[in-house]
Amino acid sequence: MNYFFRLSALSLCLLTGQLQAQNINISVETRSNALVLQADAKKNLNTLYLGKKLASAAEYEQITGQYKQSSEYTGVLSAAYTPSGSRNLLEPAISVSHADGNNSLDLRYVSHELKKLSDDVSLLSILLKDPVYDFQVTLFYKSYYKDDVIEQWSVIKHKEKGNVTLQKFASANLYLKAGGFYLTQYHGDWAKEMQPEESKITHGIKTLDTKLGTRANLFQPSVFMISLDKPATEDEGTVLYGALEYSGNFRTDLELDYLNNLKIISGINNYASAYTLKPNEAFTTPAFLYTLSSTGKGDASRNMHNWARNYKILDGKGQRLTLLNNWEATYFDFNESKLFDLLKDTKKLGVDLFLLDDGWFANKYPRNGDVAGLGDWEENKTKLPNGVASLVKEAKNNEVKFGIWIEPEMVNPKSNLYEKHPDWVIKQPKREEYYFRNQLVLDLSNPKVQDFVFGVVNDLFTKDPELAYIKWDCNAVIYNAYSATLGNQNHFYIEYMRGLYKVLERIRTKYPTVPMMLCSGGGGRVDYAALQYFTEFWPSDNTDPMERIFMQWEYSYFYPAITSSNHVTDWGKQPIKFRTDVAMMGKLGFDIVVSHLKENDLKYCQDAIKTYNVIKPLIWQGDQYRLANPKEGSVASMLYVNSGKTAAVMFNYLVNNRYDEGSKLPIKLKGLDASKKYAVKELNLYPGTSSAVDGTKVYSGDFLMKIGFNPVVNSGRTSVVLQIEELK
Ligand code: DGJ
Repeated sequence: MNYFFRLSALSLCLLTGQLQAQNINISVETRSNALVLQADAKKNLNTLYLGKKLASAAEYEQITGQYKQSSEYTGVLSAAYTPSGSRNLLEPAISVSHADGNNSLDLRYVSHELKKLSDDVSLLSILLKDPVYDFQVTLFYKSYYKDDVIEQWSVIKHKEKGNVTLQKFASANLYLKAGGFYLTQYHGDWAKEMQPEESKITHGIKTLDTKLGTRANLFQPSVFMISLDKPATEDEGTVLYGALEYSGNFRTDLELDYLNNLKIISGINNYASAYTLKPNEAFTTPAFLYTLSSTGKGDASRNMHNWARNYKILDGKGQRLTLLNNWEATYFDFNESKLFDLLKDTKKLGVDLFLLDDGWFANKYPRNGDVAGLGDWEENKTKLPNGVASLVKEAKNNEVKFGIWIEPEMVNPKSNLYEKHPDWVIKQPKREEYYFRNQLVLDLSNPKVQDFVFGVVNDLFTKDPELAYIKWDCNAVIYNAYSATLGNQNHFYIEYMRGLYKVLERIRTKYPTVPMMLCSGGGGRVDYAALQYFTEFWPSDNTDPMERIFMQWEYSYFYPAITSSNHVTDWGKQPIKFRTDVAMMGKLGFDIVVSHLKENDLKYCQDAIKTYNVIKPLIWQGDQYRLANPKEGSVASMLYVNSGKTAAVMFNYLVNNRYDEGSKLPIKLKGLDASKKYAVKELNLYPGTSSAVDGTKVYSGDFLMKIGFNPVVNSGRTSVVLQIEELK
């Protein structure tokens, strides 16, 4: 009997009272998939299978016999949660230094429990313990049956005689087998968010991570896709979408091992974050989220969208407000009378709300540019002598709502706040300050700062209860990470996020539904932890519609259209129709000088907003189908279909300006009912133009899906929006 067996047999007796050791299969089943874990005779918990569900559960046992890969030297290659310092030779999910300084960990299955939380949702927990140290990890698997989604996290605890240091503490550890793996990852920068790259995964470790602290996904978001065997397409292939539900530093390791299997380990980035865990303290990791589709990317994203709207996003099934924002119309240069004019324009345009952006606050160092005033959240007396209250009142007079911009986590060194509370600011005490957009980040690990940030929002609502919208910005990353009040600097990045979530939790307890936009100088911050507190996000400051077609396309794999704030601005060379049509493929807003619009342009916008108000339920709640990929051809096409398949809207754009480019072939629609009859009518016609589409013709769903429909996109019709409606 070897060392490991003796220990596990002993722990078995103690913990489960069973003397007979045998395989225990534990499975998490969703509509199409199964994750099957197996505790072997020695109670090692391994991943037996992750893939399409088998008709007979008994056959999962036979899977292993079908794989003739080379020898497994460690016995933990496929571990459900790989410990380090014992037999493991590859990337661990968890790595610890025990109270006595020993660095080894072994985790063996003890027990599991499955709870049904609803018809759709189940929660499996599996307790693992180290046979030598009084150290345990509970793995949680929350499964959403209909949407084939699993959220996975772990809770780490111990009862050792002193503190344990967690060197690595992943949320999840998946293990996949296939004849090759293809990774789609994203990179970016300001105005260049969500740039995709696809590559075959080679042996060794590929790490996707961030160390930016805040607006953590500016350079790289945590969302990714893994195609199995061959790159998946919209409708074909097996693909796993993964993401960490966390707004701070994340790390995902993808390791192709010597057996050619893929280990995915994802969690909080352990960079500069060794965590000291006291006895009996529970360390709960954020959830790693994934969905697996064997019918291509389209189904994977529709599953993700449904899950997000039903279970994750704040008010995911609710309403959203169309708006006019003044950022690009005025920048910092405005006063009350200018804003009163913009409020009139808001009404004239026909949107629901006016959103006052940056520049309305600070007196000692007025916020007239991005160099001063951030942190001093009192109305600037020169610009707003009668305060925000008078704007809210004037908005009411114009029958529109009023919303406001804040960036409460940040401070300009040139501010009253900085002068009064230098110890609230993240900076190294002995080093030169270093700025991102002339600002520093406040230390949210400090409870006093948490109160301050909560107070910024709370004061606004207390003074003006009719405030209807918040745009929460976050422009700086964390340089010189250091807290003046935190005892253990290794906890800094984690405590910052805990502080942020505490504040957001307080805000949502008091103000549960007010819509808030998650903005970060563009798309440097969107994830499914933050979207529990925010109704929408700002994908990028780049609102050039041509760029947005590509960017929104990529975001659409992971986030439903209802979360994507798309504003019509003066970026790009496209006409107003093109700009508005692109912005309509999500949550529509405007950031233009309405009074500068030509008569027909204004008329176009006003009509488009009326149309949007009719079709927005389709865009926000419908099933989204990416029909023609802008990266692959001259035309981009996106379709949204309602659940009854009685109505759809199809957006089509010319994305190539070369001679004679256009929609030469019909574009095949998806998601309709083959047996229904539909009429196809063009929407959003520019005043004075007529449609190239005959709206009186009748087509079967069968025809539209097998033959398709030609939106007649060409250099004279660069943007074409079609409504598809069932004829009864
Ligand atoms: C960055 C945001 O992305 C912009 O929309 C605007 O709000 C500015 N910050 C204001 O400073």
